[in-house]
Formats: sequence, structure tokens, C-alpha cells
Amino acid sequence: MDERELIRSWAEKRVGLLARRSLLIAALAAPSLPAFADWGMGAANSKLPPPEVFAPVSTPASAIDTLAWFTIAICAGIALIVGGLLVYSIIRFRARPGDDGQEPPQVYGSNPIELAWTAVPIIIIFVLILTTARTIYMVQAAIPPPGALKVRVIGHQWWWEVRYPGLNIVTANEIHVPLTDSRDSNPTYLELESADVAHSFWVPRLSGKTDLIPNRTNTMWIAPHQAGTYLGQCAEFCGTEHALMLLRVIVQPHAEWERWVADQQKPAAALASRGRQVFESNACVNCHTVRGTVANGRFGPDLTHLASRQTLAAGAALNTPEHLRMWITNPDVIKPGALMPAMNLSAADINDVAAYLGTLR
Ligand code: CUA
Repeated sequence: MDERELIRSWAEKRVGLLARRSLLIAALAAPSLPAFADWGMGAANSKLPPPEVFAPVSTPASAIDTLAWFTIAICAGIALIVGGLLVYSIIRFRARPGDDGQEPPQVYGSNPIELAWTAVPIIIIFVLILTTARTIYMVQAAIPPPGALKVRVIGHQWWWEVRYPGLNIVTANEIHVPLTDSRDSNPTYLELESADVAHSFWVPRLSGKTDLIPNRTNTMWIAPHQAGTYLGQCAEFCGTEHALMLLRVIVQPHAEWERWVADQQKPAAALASRGRQVFESNACVNCHTVRGTVANGRFGPDLTHLASRQTLAAGAALNTPEHLRMWITNPDVIKPGALMPAMNLSAADINDVAAYLGTLR
């Protein structure tokens, strides 16, 4: 057996061993893995339009989409021409039996050719630079028209605080904005900040990404022209639960959006109950606000209208009474590493607190 065969047989043995071991580990581990749970989000999200960059429904996203297709078309044209000439040359000028084996004539210093392959790429690059600069300027230099809706979005590990200055609304993870139609053509301006580390706001169908950076306010705007619920996520690694820092933008016709505003402006529908008593006598109130009650913490999401939201834990779980109970019992089960502690309440207390929170419509 020569050296090469030796190496090959050794490699084959190693690969075989590795494959057998992997199968064994998978077979042993499979029954002990917890069943994959998505807390109802998979089914709920499958009914929503998928977060695709190539299906924009809002102005910055559609301008970026047009620019992307323009660039792809130019690059595809170049690839086709260069590839086509290459394939043609390979076939047309291939070695044939009976060739004389001589080197073909060499061309040096042809001014027209040199000029052409210098000038054409420069022109192409300039066209791409100018169209890109125009789109960037159009998106970034836009001045909010008077009366434009302003929304402050503050990134936290791992959820989104959403404040509507002037409207007296504070919510979390779900941003309601009015449709930009001919009657109400005002776009929504977002002020993006961070309470801790760098995050990135990304709702692919509405706009490109913009980072949320501590001690700095970044801005972006959206002018959605199609009502619906659009999925987004944090696009900058920000710690353990970065992947479950999800958000949704709910675009509503103007009248419907105004109804939402009126509902959110109301103080909490916090009736006296045992659940409310438990909530207010525990550390819950240090982190959460329920407007109109003694709870006025700022570290966690505002719960004034928690029950009106579609999801819990920044899109980690569908907002159902069962999930809410599990979340209060032990947030780590739904979102491992979540900064909300398990409060070690009794089963009766958890039921009552969940029932109380469920009334906060
Ligand atoms: Cu926030 Cu990643």
C-alpha cells in the first residue's frame, strides 16, 4: 500500500467513525430534548406577510428595492457579457488537432481598446454612485412635515419601548401607525434610542435597518401604503435573547388608527381585585407601569394596555392567558435569559395576577 492509499483508507475510517458516533448521539439525545415550542408564534406569523426585502409596502423600502434591482440588472448585464465572451472564446478558439502550436499574434498598446475598457467601467461606477447617493439623500434628508406622527422607539435587552410623545401613549413591541394614503399623506417619523447596548430596528417591508445606539438619537421614517401587520426584528447582536427581540408594525387606515389611539390614551381599566393587590404589593411595580395605579416602573414594558397586544415577551409568545401565566411563573421557560425574574409567587397568586393583567385592555 503506498502513502496515498494509506491516507485515503485512514480518512475513510475516520469519516465512518464520525458518522456512526453522530448518529448514536442523535439517537440517544432525541428523546431527552424538550419538544420544540414556539408558543403559538409559528402559526400566528404564518398568516402574516413574510418579512421580505423584495416585497416593499412603504416608501424607503420601495426606493431601496428599486435601487437594488437597478444594480442587480447592471451587474447581471456585465456578468452575461463577460461570461458570454469567455464561453465563446473557449469554444471558438479551443485547441484542435492539426494546430501549428504557434503563439497567436499579441496586441500591445491599442489606444481605442485601452480607452474603451477604462471609460466604460468608470461610467458604470458613476451611474451606480449617483443613483445610490440620490436614494440615500431622499431617505435620510427627508424633513418631517408639520403634523407628522412622531414615535420614539427605545431598544432594551430584549424588547422595544414605544412612546408617542404628544399622544400620551406608551406601549411595547407593537407599533401602530396610520396608513399613508392620498387623504393623509403624512409619513411616520421614528426616533431610535437605546437604553443599554446597540440594537438595530429592521422591518424589511417598510424600510432598511437603522441602529439604536446608546446616548444617541437616530431617525428614520416610514410611509406605508398598504394596511397590515409587518414583522420585524432586532438586527444587531445585543445579547442572549437577541433572536427573540421581535417587533411588529401594525399599519391601519386612519380612522381605525385613531380608535386605537383613543383606546390607548385611556387609563388602565384596573379594577380592585386580589390579582391587582398581589401585583402592587410585589416588586412587579418597580419595573412596570400601569397608568393610573401605583405601578410606575420604567425598566420593563408598560402594561397599561397589555391585553390589547398580540404578543408577549417581544414576540416570543402569543398573548394568551395560558402563556401569560407561564411567563409570570418563569420567564426563562419562554425566553431563556430574559431579564424579568421569576417572582416565586404561589399558584393562586400567579392565577390572580394573570387574571388582573388579562383585564388591562
Ligand atoms: Cu436587540 Cu439584537
